[in-house]
Amino acid sequence: MSLVSDLGHSRGQAATGTTFAVAGGREVHIRVRNLTMAYGDFVLMRDLDFTVQRGEIFVIMGGSGCGKSTLLRHLIGLNEPAAGEIWYGDENFTKAAPATRELMLRRFGVLYQSGGLWSSMTLAENIGLPLGEFTDLTPAQIREVATLKLSLVGLKGFEDYYPSQISGGMQKRAGLARAMALDPEVLFFDEPSAGLDPVSSCLLDELILELRASLGSTIVIVTHELASIFAIADNCIYLDTETRTMGALGNPHELLKSCTNPGVRRFLTRGREGAEGVREGETAHG
Ligand SMILES: Nc1ncnc2c1ncn2[C@@H]1O[C@H](COP(=O)(O)OP(=O)(O)OP(=O)(O)O)[C@@H](O)[C@H]1O
Ligand SMILES: [Mg+2]
Repeated sequence: MSLVSDLGHSRGQAATGTTFAVAGGREVHIRVRNLTMAYGDFVLMRDLDFTVQRGEIFVIMGGSGCGKSTLLRHLIGLNEPAAGEIWYGDENFTKAAPATRELMLRRFGVLYQSGGLWSSMTLAENIGLPLGEFTDLTPAQIREVATLKLSLVGLKGFEDYYPSQISGGMQKRAGLARAMALDPEVLFFDEPSAGLDPVSSCLLDELILELRASLGSTIVIVTHELASIFAIADNCIYLDTETRTMGALGNPHELLKSCTNPGVRRFLTRGREGAEGVREGETAHG
């Protein structure tokens, strides 16, 4: 659907015929095996073990400071595991040679917690930056792709605006457009709705669902917005600060019904004790 689809991205080529390529009839896109995350001697989380299916919206949730952003940083290679491995399809990301890893990274799009647009560049220039670096597109083609990506997030006509000239919600959407610049197979969003009003936050959720439908990307999102989690997550992992490992894994609606981990129940019911009797709709929107 875009000018960059002929860049040689190996979309769809990964994950064929290995022991863990298929689980329950669907294709495993990301596999995290016995991951331990540490800063020096401080072990933040251990024994994280989970898979993300291709095309899934997967949420990393948990209290502030539990290690959500750190897990995201491991998934995109900014932090190295203290133990364990991360696989994309049948490629071992953790053990990959630098050149291979560099190629794998180009298939990722990232929206950082801080947003991260360059303030001295227009929106079109921000989105064009990775295209200029990693493709042979001409400046005119780059501009065309930038316009296309901005229109996907409802910002057509804002190509020549600087980040400071648009609202916080628009900056988030521009960040999303930049994350999508190279038609990524996997999109990583760290707190995409932080700082947005509830209506903008809801619109962003709808946008994320639309992007998944139109691009078919796998989407990994860090968030503690319950409404978002219940609205868009196919599956989620809860990082438990008390036990320093994963407290739950699964669909959030199912977890709300049946998960017995007290930390997970507190989280999913906004801290209400004795979560029995809390109705799902109440929790998701109340
Ligand atoms: N570069 C670092 N060096 C040492 N410790 C760090 C570093 N980055 C984060 N930490 C620590 O790791 C823990 C987890 O941080 P992280 O940013 O992953 O949490 P988080 O779950 O994303 O929190 P929040 O919801 O507030 O964004 C915190 O205690 C933090 O102080
Ligand atoms: Mg964080």
